[in-house]
Amino acid sequence: MSIGFCETNEYEETVTMVEGIEKMRVGDDALDLVFRKARTYNAWLPKPVPDELLQQLYDTLKWGPTSANISPARFLFIRSAAAKERLRPSLAPGNVQKTMAAPVTVIIAYDLKFYDKVPGCFQTSQACAIGLWITRS
Ligand SMILES: Cc1cc2nc3c(=O)[nH]c(=O)nc-3n(C[C@H](O)[C@H](O)[C@H](O)COP(=O)(O)O)c2cc1C
Repeated sequence: MSIGFCETNEYEETVTMVEGIEKMRVGDDALDLVFRKARTYNAWLPKPVPDELLQQLYDTLKWGPTSANISPARFLFIRSAAAKERLRPSLAPGNVQKTMAAPVTVIIAYDLKFYDKVPGCFQTSQACAIGLWITRS
């Protein structure tokens, strides 16, 4: 954003917002948890993962950045042996054993017609038109 072209009150509002954000820094514990000590796991404990935890996971990740309030990602959590067997042919060989052993796995897919949801998710018709143009080009 170019602050130099803002109207006077917009500039002051921006400065106030930035000063507010500077006071909101998270602590080292949070930075370690999310970034510095967050590593990928390749083995699982034989413990069930409750639906409530999966719901919390989804309810957190859905706040990630969006364009025009649209999130094309679709999540399918699967647990049963039968459902995993349907997934097996799509897995790379190195992922088969750990996927089959996991108490739950998630397929993250992409809604190819997510642009149909734009009119209900964004406020102005002009912005909707831009969203449709971008996704269909
Ligand atoms: C392009 C890409 C493909 C990956 N494919 C796999 C995969 O097929 N199986 C897997 O277990 N991890 C996969 N990973 C995850 C990496 O193994 C993992 O991110 C890496 O070990 C880094 O670990 P860290 O998160 O502990 O830093 C992939 C990562 C990237 C960037």
